Amino acid sequence: MSSYEARFKVWRGDEQGGGLEDFSVEVNDGEVVLDIIHRLQSTQAPDLAVRWNCKAGKCGSCSAEINGRPRLMCMTRMSVFDRAETITVTPLRAFPVIRDLVTNVGFNYQKAREVPAFVPPAGVGPGEYRMTQEDVDRSQEFRKCIECFLCQDTCHVVRDHEENKAAFAGPRFLMRIAELDMHPLDAAAETGLDRKRTAQDEHGLGYCNITKCCTEVCPEGIKITDNALIPLKERAVDRKYDPLVWLGSKIRRRSS
Ligand code: SF4
Ligand code: SF4
Ligand code: FES
Repeated sequence: MSSYEARFKVWRGDEQGGGLEDFSVEVNDGEVVLDIIHRLQSTQAPDLAVRWNCKAGKCGSCSAEINGRPRLMCMTRMSVFDRAETITVTPLRAFPVIRDLVTNVGFNYQKAREVPAFVPPAGVGPGEYRMTQEDVDRSQEFRKCIECFLCQDTCHVVRDHEENKAAFAGPRFLMRIAELDMHPLDAAAETGLDRKRTAQDEHGLGYCNITKCCTEVCPEGIKITDNALIPLKERAVDRKYDPLVWLGSKIRRRSS
C-alpha cells in the first residue's frame, strides 16, 4: 500500500465567521475525502465538525464543496486529484453554516413541506393501484434522490441570492412536483389542486433557466433538468397557451 502526505485547506468557523485552515495529512490507497476528514479529526483537529452517516453515497449527509464543486465527501476518491494539488473543503455555500463543514439545510425541509403530497384516487384501495411499466420507470428515476441537496446548493437562482429563497423551491422539489404531475394515479386535479399552476406561481418554476448545473452535480445521475424540469415547463406553458384551457378558465371565471 502506498501513502503520501496531501495538503488540505478546510474551512473552520461558525455563523459568526471563519476561514480556511491548512493541514498536511496522510493519504492511503483507495481513500476518499471523508476518510481524510476523519483522519484530521483523529489526529489534528478533534473538534472539526462534519456530518456523515453511511459512507456509501446513500444517506446524502456528507455534502460539501471540494475545490469549489458541490460533492459527496464519501464518494470523492483522493485518486482523482493530483498528489501535488492542495485540496480545499468548504461547507455548502447556499445554506447557513452551523459549524465547520456542517450547514443548516432546513430550507430544504421547509420547501419539502410546501409541496402537497400524492392524492390517492377515489374508490381505489391500497394494493389495487395499477400503472403501466413505462409510468413506473419514469418516476423511478426521481425516486433515486438521496436528498443530498447538492443540486439545491449549486443552483444559481439561490446560490448567491438569499432573496430568491422564499419564491423558489429549487430543483429537488420542482422535480418532486414534476414527478407527482406525471403520476397517472395522482388525483390532485380532482381536489382543485393544479400542480402545474402552483409550480409556476408558488414554487418559482419560471426562475429556472435550464442551465443544467443541478443535473451535473447530482450523485445519483438523475437527469433533473431534461426529465423533470423541462417537461414540467412544457406542460405548464401548454396549459397557459392551450386555447381550450384558456377558454375553459374564462367560462369558469364568468360563471363564478
Ligand atoms: S437547470 Fe434550473 S434548477 Fe437546475 S441549476 Fe439551472 S436554473 Fe437551477
Ligand atoms: S436530485 Fe440529486 S443532487 Fe438533488 S438532492 Fe436528489 S440526489 Fe441530491
Ligand atoms: S456519508 Fe452518506 S452519502 Fe456520504
